[in-house]
Amino acid sequence: MRTEVAVIGAGPAGLLLSHLLARAGIDSVVVETRSQEYVASRIRAGILEHAAVDLLTSAGLGDRLHAEGHEHRGVYLQWPEERHHLDFLDLTGRSVHVYGQTEVQKDLVAAHQGPVVYEVTDTRLHDVHTDQPHLTFVDRDGVHQRLDATVIAGCDGSFGPSRAAVPEPARRVFERTYPYSWLGILADVAPSTDELIYAWHPDGFALHSMRSPTVSRLYLQVPNGTDPARWSDQQTWDELAKRLGHGQDGWTLTPGPITDKSVLPMRSFVQTPMRYGNLFLAGDAAHIVPPTGAKGLNLAIADVALLARALTAQLREHTTALIDAYSETALRRVWRCTHFSWWMTTMLHASDDPFEAELQLSQLRWVTSSTAGATGLAENYAGLPLAV
Ligand code: FAD
Ligand code: PHB
Repeated sequence: MRTEVAVIGAGPAGLLLSHLLARAGIDSVVVETRSQEYVASRIRAGILEHAAVDLLTSAGLGDRLHAEGHEHRGVYLQWPEERHHLDFLDLTGRSVHVYGQTEVQKDLVAAHQGPVVYEVTDTRLHDVHTDQPHLTFVDRDGVHQRLDATVIAGCDGSFGPSRAAVPEPARRVFERTYPYSWLGILADVAPSTDELIYAWHPDGFALHSMRSPTVSRLYLQVPNGTDPARWSDQQTWDELAKRLGHGQDGWTLTPGPITDKSVLPMRSFVQTPMRYGNLFLAGDAAHIVPPTGAKGLNLAIADVALLARALTAQLREHTTALIDAYSETALRRVWRCTHFSWWMTTMLHASDDPFEAELQLSQLRWVTSSTAGATGLAENYAGLPLAV
C-alpha cells in the first residue's frame, strides 16, 4: 500500500488530520489498534475552546456541535463560603462549548472518507529519517502489511510507538507527575449548575461538569492508586456535595444514577521536537496535560490544524517554511497550555501544606477580584487563536 500521509491512531488527532488533508486533496491512510466502537465510546474531554469550535465548524464538522453542544460564557471558581463567576465572553470576547470528545469522535467518523484500518497489531515505524518512511502492521485477519508514505503522522496518544521512534539524543522529555488523581463519574441526572464549577476545598478539589441537559460529569480529587470500586455511589455523591458547597446560599447538588466511575492519574509530559525527519507528532503522542485546564483535546486539535496546513503547503504548494516551523510553532502553544494546566492544577488541588493552602486561596481571591487576574485565566481557558 502507498499513501501520501500515513496516520497512526484514529483518535481525534488522527481522524481530524486525515479529514483536513482530504479537504485539501491529500490522501492518507489511518491505522488504529482498537475497534471503531471502542474508540467512539471512550469517555474523555468535555470542553472545546473557541478556536477549536471555529476550526471544526470551518472543516464542516460543526452541525451537531452547534445544535447539541452548549455555549458557556465562563466558569465558576469557588472555595468554602464563596462562589464567583468568571465571564470569559465579557473579559476576552471568547466563549467555550460543552461538547464531549465522544461526540467529536462520532462527527469525525461520520464525515471521514478515506481508509481507516481498525484493529491492527504490531504497528512499527521504519526509516522515518529518510525519504522512504513506512509502517508495518498486522491487520485483523493476521496478514502482515506494509504502508509506504511521504510522511508519517504519529497521532497515537500516550501509549503509541511514535514518540519512541525519535531516537536519543534528538529527543528531550519533560515530565511532572502529581500526588493526586481524579475520581470521575458520569451520571444520568440534570446538571445542578448552568456552567462548570471548579471548587477548591480543604479535603480536595471537586469539579462539576456536564455533557448534556440530562447527563452530568463530576470529578473528585483522590489519592493516587485509588480503586474506584472502593467509592460507593452514596459516598461519592456525599463527598461531591460537601466539596461543591451543597446548602451554601441555597445551592443544592442533585444526585442521580452513576453510569461510569473511573480514576484518572494526573501528568504533565512534553516530548520535543515534534518533528523528526518525516515523522510528525501531534496530540497526546507529543504532550499530556492534567485535565484541570480542559486543554488535552484542544491542543490535539490545534496541532493537527497546524500540521494539515503545513503538509498542504509542502505537498501541494511545494513550500517548506510552514512544515520546517511546525515543531517550534506547535510547541509554543503546547508550553502555554502546559503552564496553564499546571497553574490551574496547583491552584486548585489540596495538599497537606497549610502555607500552600493560604497561597492558593490568595490566588483564587486575586483571579476572582482583579480584572487583570480574571482576564489572564479567561484568555488561557477560552484559548488562544490558532497559529494558522
Ligand atoms: P488519543 O485520543 O489517545 O488517540 C490515540 C489513538 O491512537 C487511540 O485511538 C489509540 O488506540 C491509537 N493507538 C495507540 N497505539 C497505536 C498503535 N500502536 N497503532 C495504531 N494506533 C494506535 N482531556 C481534557 O481536556 N479533559 C478531560 O476530561 C480529559 N479526560 C481524559 C480522560 C482519560 C482517561 C484520558 C486518557 C485522557 C483524557 N483527556 C482529557 C485528554 C484527551 O482525551 C486527549 O488529550 C485526547 O484524546 C488526545 O487525542 P489524541 O488523538 O492525541 O490521542
Ligand atoms: C469534562 O467535562 O470532562 C471536563 C471539563 C473540564 C475540565 C476537565 C474535564 O477541566
